[in-house]
Amino acid sequence: MKLPVTTEIDRELCTGCGLCVSICPFRTLTVINGTAEVTGCHSMHCGHCAAVCPTGAVTVGGVADDALNLVTVENKEEWLPYEEFDTAALVQLMRSRRSCRIFSGKPVEKSVLEDLVKIGSTAPSGTNSQLWTFTILPDRVAVQKLGDATARFFRKLNSLAERGYLRFFSKLFMKDALGWYYREYYESVRQALREWEENDRDCLFHGAPSAILVGMKPGASTPCEDALLASQNILLAAHAMGLGSCLIGFVVEAMKRDPRIRKVLGIPREERIYAVIALGYSVTQFYKPAGRKRVVPRYFEG
Ligand SMILES: Cc1cc2nc3c(=O)[nH]c(=O)nc-3n(C[C@H](O)[C@H](O)[C@H](O)COP(=O)(O)O)c2cc1C
Repeated sequence: MKLPVTTEIDRELCTGCGLCVSICPFRTLTVINGTAEVTGCHSMHCGHCAAVCPTGAVTVGGVADDALNLVTVENKEEWLPYEEFDTAALVQLMRSRRSCRIFSGKPVEKSVLEDLVKIGSTAPSGTNSQLWTFTILPDRVAVQKLGDATARFFRKLNSLAERGYLRFFSKLFMKDALGWYYREYYESVRQALREWEENDRDCLFHGAPSAILVGMKPGASTPCEDALLASQNILLAAHAMGLGSCLIGFVVEAMKRDPRIRKVLGIPREERIYAVIALGYSVTQFYKPAGRKRVVPRYFEG
């Protein structure tokens, strides 16, 4: 995504050191007669030029100064130098984030949810498009409405999947998608729907009192990656802020296939949802962090 150049140089402050020139991915700037000047016609507003300028001579438009101001967390404006963060604490946070499947009914303050959205938006995005959207479901009624719409979708899907002849004929048009769904999910979805209907048990959102949906507007070069990177930020920050979280892929799948669900939430047609994050206070305390399968990296050495 190429954007108009909004970079400005304060000639009084510029020392002509050239740091902004060397870091610009679009070669937008050149040092001429001892001062940086805008000579290119493309920019992605990444702001690296402004961030490396030791005298504050460079400014870049397209970002709001207060966009990342947090309300519930201390704002630290200084750039954190390499190696100055406690890596062990970071890894502990990453390993301690677990999917929460028992939420207490305690509501999450809107200010916390809004801070999580801001934290999500600090993620990298392809060509700095930042075309993500965040839909906050701030209360249990809203979460339940999305749950109901999703349940409607899966009820219908189950009623199709349980017919053997449909599974057989659908193979001709959509490989074995319906058969695969029948084998992998049909039974557990059927049981979850029954729990939802008969016992009011929420096997989808696990009783979460709120949720954030991460979507993308059209035009992003890497929409899925952008949305999921923002989502991971939210998951980690939620844990640090005292909240449990859980990605709810079933809702993403339903929203992909049934546009009526998007309509229920007032999400525009052209937007696509890539992550649904259930959020709330966890009833569960764990005694151990996450374990994982061993990963064996492959080397290709020159
Ligand atoms: C894309 C994606 C979709 C997921 N969907 C669901 C879901 O619908 N319901 C659920 O309870 N957990 C869901 N999870 C959570 C995974 O089951 C969980 O991340 C995995 O079991 C590892 O556990 P942990 O997150 O506690 O480390 C999803 C995870 C991912 C990455």
